[in-house]
Amino acid sequence: MESIIVKGDTSLSGNVKISGSKNAAVAILPAVVLTKDNVHLENLPDITDVRTMVEILENLGVSIRRRGRNALDLTPGNLARVAPSYELVKRMRASYYFMGSLLARFGRAEVPIPGGCDLGPRPIDQHLKGFSALGADINIEHGMINLSAEKLVGAHIYLDVVSIGATVNLMLAASSAEGRTVLENVAKEPEIVDLANFLNAMGGRIRGAGTDVIRIDGVKELHGASHTVIPDRIEAGTFMLAAAATGGSIKVEEVIPKHLEAITAKLREAGAGVEVEPEMIKVESTGSLCASDLKTFPYPGFPTDLQPPGMVMLTAARGLSVITENVFDGRYNQVDELKRMGARIKVEGRTALIEGGGRLSGAPVTAHDLRSGAALIIAALIAEGKSQISAVEHIDRGYENFEKKLIGLGASIHRVSEKNLDSSSTSLD
Ligand code: EPU
Repeated sequence: MESIIVKGDTSLSGNVKISGSKNAAVAILPAVVLTKDNVHLENLPDITDVRTMVEILENLGVSIRRRGRNALDLTPGNLARVAPSYELVKRMRASYYFMGSLLARFGRAEVPIPGGCDLGPRPIDQHLKGFSALGADINIEHGMINLSAEKLVGAHIYLDVVSIGATVNLMLAASSAEGRTVLENVAKEPEIVDLANFLNAMGGRIRGAGTDVIRIDGVKELHGASHTVIPDRIEAGTFMLAAAATGGSIKVEEVIPKHLEAITAKLREAGAGVEVEPEMIKVESTGSLCASDLKTFPYPGFPTDLQPPGMVMLTAARGLSVITENVFDGRYNQVDELKRMGARIKVEGRTALIEGGGRLSGAPVTAHDLRSGAALIIAALIAEGKSQISAVEHIDRGYENFEKKLIGLGASIHRVSEKNLDSSSTSLD
C-alpha cells in the first residue's frame, strides 16, 4: 500500500498532455482476440488497468511485443484458451469484455463473475440478455459465467438501461454473428465510437456508433489492424476541474474538445474562464467560483466519473450547490473523506448538498476508488496544510503519471510506501 503526501495552498498552472483513454483501451484490448492476425495499438495509457488487460491477453496465449511505453504489437494467432485466469480477472471489472470477444471467436467463454465493486451495485443482466438473444447458452455456476453457442445469430436487442459495458460486450459478440444485429438504447460515449472504429478497421461492419442505435452486420473473419486510442476525456476533465478548484490556469493539451462539452459548460457556469482550441482547452480561474448544480448522465451529459472532482470544485464555490448522481447508486465514496477535511456536505440518496466557500484543512484520508482518489488529491491541493492520501493504487488504475503531471503544474506532492511512513518521509518542508 502506498500513500501520496500533498502540500496544500497550491494553485495549479501550466500545460499538461492528456494520455490515451482508459475506458477505450480496456474495450479495445479484449477485441484483439477477434482476429488471428497482427494488431498494432498506439496511445495506450501506461496504467494498471491496461497492464492487467495485457497480462490477461498474454495468459490466454496472445504474443505481445512492447513498442515503447504506449504502443503494443499483439499476435493472437496461437490463442487457444477460453478461460481467463480468476487471479487476473478479479483485478478489474472490464475483464468481463472477454465474454463477448471469446464467445465471438471460439463460440465459448468461461469468465469469472465480475466481483463486487466500490461504486454500488453493478448488475450485468443487460449483457446476459443480449448474449442470450444472439443465441448463446448461459450457465452460471461455481462463480463462473459459462457461455457457449454453436453459432451466434444477429438479433434485435433493446437495452433496458443505457450501459457502456453491455454495449461493448454486445458489439464484440455480434461482430462475427451471422446476419444483422440491431442494438437499441445503447451508450453513445466516445469510447464506444473508438471501439467501433477499431472493429471496422479490422473489417467489421458497424454503423451508428455514437448514436443510440448501432447496426452490426456480422462478418466471417476479422483481420489485423492498426489503431490509435482516443485521448482520455475523464483525465482531461479531472485537470480542467482541478484548474478551477485550485484557482489556477491549465492548458489541457492533446484533447478532443467535443468530448468535453459538458465539462466546459459546467466550468463556465461556475465562473471559470474556458478557452477552446482545436486540440487544447485552457481553464483559468477568474477570481472566485459560484455555486452551481451538477447532474450526472450518460454521454453527452456530465460524466459520473467526474462527479467526485466536480464535488471538490463545488466545495470551493461560495453558496449551496446540489449534485444529483443519476448513473450509480451510492457513488459518494469521497464524501466522508472530504468531511474529514472540513467540507460541509450532506448526502440524501442520490443527492448531495454542498455548502461551499469554507476552507478545507489538510488531513489523512483514504482513496476508496479511482475517481474519488483523484478528487482527494485535488482537495488536498486546495486545503490548508499537508494531507496524506492512502490506498493510492486506486489512482494508478486510471491516471498515467498523475503525480508527475501535477508536479509539472506546480504541485508539491510525493509518494511513500505505507510501511515506511514516519514523520521524516511525509515531510514536504
Ligand atoms: N446497469 C444495469 N445492468 C447492466 C449493466 C449496467 O443495470 O447489465 C446499470 C449500472 O448498474 C449503472 C448503469 O447501468 O447504474 C450504467 O452502468 P454502465 O454499464 O454504463 O457502467 P460500466 O460499463 O460498468 C463504465 C465505465 C465506468 C463509468 C461507467 C458510467 C468502463 C470500463 N467503465 O462502467 O468507469 O463510471 O461506465 O459512465 O468503461 C471509471 O473509469 O472510473 C469507471 C468506473
